[in-house]
Amino acid sequence: MNKIAIVTGAGSGIGRACAIALAEAGFTTILAGRRRAPLEETAALAPAGSTLVVPADVREPASVDALFATAKERFGRVDLLFNNAGLFAPPARFEDLTKEQWDEIVAVNVTGAFLCAQAAFRTMKEQNPQGGRIINNGSIAAHAPRPLGAPYTTTKHAITGLTKSISLDGRPYTIACGQIDIGNAQTAMMDRIEDAAFVAHSARQQSGFLQADGTKRVEPMMDVKYAADAVVFMAQLPLDTNVQFLTVMATNMPYVGRG
Ligand SMILES: NC(=O)c1ccc[n+]([C@@H]2O[C@H](COP(=O)([O-])OP(=O)(O)OC[C@H]3O[C@@H](n4cnc5c(N)ncnc54)[C@H](OP(=O)(O)O)[C@@H]3O)[C@@H](O)[C@H]2O)c1
Repeated sequence: MNKIAIVTGAGSGIGRACAIALAEAGFTTILAGRRRAPLEETAALAPAGSTLVVPADVREPASVDALFATAKERFGRVDLLFNNAGLFAPPARFEDLTKEQWDEIVAVNVTGAFLCAQAAFRTMKEQNPQGGRIINNGSIAAHAPRPLGAPYTTTKHAITGLTKSISLDGRPYTIACGQIDIGNAQTAMMDRIEDAAFVAHSARQQSGFLQADGTKRVEPMMDVKYAADAVVFMAQLPLDTNVQFLTVMATNMPYVGRG
């Protein structure tokens, strides 16, 4: 029987690429996200019969419970969660951030990731054979911030704590947990970051990503396909073997070497 995967945020970007790659690698893949239409588009790009669309909002416990209940009813188990759904917050001066802006991103990136991971953990602990794998989508922002990005950076640092905690607490139940930290995969989110940086600093009349020194720069990007290849590599390991952290990034993006 095929292994069963759930991918959140499967209607676009990294989630779509990973969901298709997992389906092509033989996982029966449940596609989750708030909007049905983009999930159906992802399903149409995957091998016939390899996916199931289940709209879900990761911020809502009842919605996450329904997602995992559907997985268990239809397939009996969950072998893999790719905990990917996430939001980026537009650049904002730290002193101007509102609690609403903070809450909006924490609700998806931290609380949503927690709720999905907990539902996966409970399912994997209870099922027979016991165990499974959770792959959390972190970011280069789990290591270093972009300017004016405190909420996003904080949530992605939090993902590292979530990953380490699940890795430790999952040991007795053969639950492996790893984290992929992706840098500059070309997706709609990256377009929005670039656009937002431009709006926030339009006085400079430059395009590109805001840099730590206040300039802007068009940054190198990588094809999202290679992020998907990395997730499939992590996902296919036997459960006694785990990629704890994997960083995959555009080779020449500013990060290593303090810039
Ligand atoms: N692109 C990069 O270079 C990069 C780098 C580092 C980390 N990441 C991380 O990768 C993940 C995906 O980013 P992306 O670049 O692929 O961006 P994206 O295309 O904007 O994808 C985000 C996905 O999350 C879903 N989503 C948002 N809120 C949700 C909610 N409440 N419940 C369920 N699904 C929700 C969205 O679908 P709906 O709107 O339909 O719900 C969308 O499909 C994020 O966690 C991001 O932080 C990306």
